[in-house]
Amino acid sequence: MKKEGISFEGKNVLVTGGAGFLGSWICDVLVHQGAKVTCVDNFASGLAKNIEHLKIKFIEHDISKPIEFDEKFDLVMHLASRASPFEFARYPIQILKANTLGIWVALGIAKKHKARFLYTSTSEIYGDPDPRFIPTPESYNGNVNPTGPRSCYDEAKRAGEAFVKAYELQHGMDTRIVRIFNTYGPRMRAGDIYGRVVSRFIEQALSGKPITVFGGGSQTRSFTYVTDEIEGILRLAALDEAEGEVVNIGSDKETSILELAKMIKKLTNSPSEIVFQPLPKDDPRRRCPDITKAKKLLKWKPGVSLEEGLRKTIAWYEANL
Ligand SMILES: NC(=O)c1ccc[n+]([C@@H]2O[C@H](COP(=O)([O-])OP(=O)(O)OC[C@H]3O[C@@H](n4cnc5c(N)ncnc54)[C@H](O)[C@@H]3O)[C@@H](O)[C@H]2O)c1
Repeated sequence: MKKEGISFEGKNVLVTGGAGFLGSWICDVLVHQGAKVTCVDNFASGLAKNIEHLKIKFIEHDISKPIEFDEKFDLVMHLASRASPFEFARYPIQILKANTLGIWVALGIAKKHKARFLYTSTSEIYGDPDPRFIPTPESYNGNVNPTGPRSCYDEAKRAGEAFVKAYELQHGMDTRIVRIFNTYGPRMRAGDIYGRVVSRFIEQALSGKPITVFGGGSQTRSFTYVTDEIEGILRLAALDEAEGEVVNIGSDKETSILELAKMIKKLTNSPSEIVFQPLPKDDPRRRCPDITKAKKLLKWKPGVSLEEGLRKTIAWYEANL
């Protein structure tokens, strides 16, 4: 990761959801840069092994319930939330709580400590965007079904953003919101309800099971390799000029799900056949961010190609599955 212009040396940082995929990568970089890190996680979808190599303070706790700290934080990063579509179906109330009650608790800590606050929102807040708004800029307000199967996540994240803006307005807090687009890489959990499209396809390909594409596979996503994503998030957290900003961080290269399936099959030399299953309700047809703002404000752009990122990710799953 490029470090120019950003430093967390000597900073005291609270990371909620730090035992998860993105949270553990963030803790890694923060510790590497000399920050003092406290992680709060209830292992809803995270794993102890993601952070056991790190010298950090760990507290097992559900962030939707109040918690007090003695030390003073400089930065609070709220990541705690399940994020897989299969989890939306099984744990919708937990997801709503993590992004409403949970963000309320996390904002309260940041307010008390006069700390900067960063919230990990999502491209899902755009719902199924009107094709005229692809690539999607931060100014697009979204096309979201408030009562559909994804609403526990989409609407919770939209409420989370509203919480952040309310605390900024009423208490003058220094806040930042990152809208993350599909990120993949080592430590992304596979299997059962945790798998997301990249981890699910790789797991299926490596085990010779059918690769299950929903619908015809023409729906698109923008896939960002984890080191690129983390760099963008940390630049947003670190730069003074990003105060109050909402920024898309993701690859601006759109890839269809069928293309992704074929790529993973090829890169794993898998005998798996690609099979088609019904498209879930409200599955977004296209997803691609406009990243003009991230380029200008954060001097950030993704650098890892999908093929390169998938090769690294596949190698990790081969060693760790
Ligand atoms: N990875 C992506 O592509 C992506 C895309 C958009 C947004 N995001 C957001 O980034 C954040 C991290 O996502 P991830 O991919 O690392 O997911 P993840 O499931 O790997 O990590 C989430 C972490 O939060 C913890 N957690 C969940 N509910 C909690 C609670 N109530 N109290 C304490 N800890 C709790 C989990 O145990 C887990 O460790 C989430 O907020 C997610 O919505 C991720």
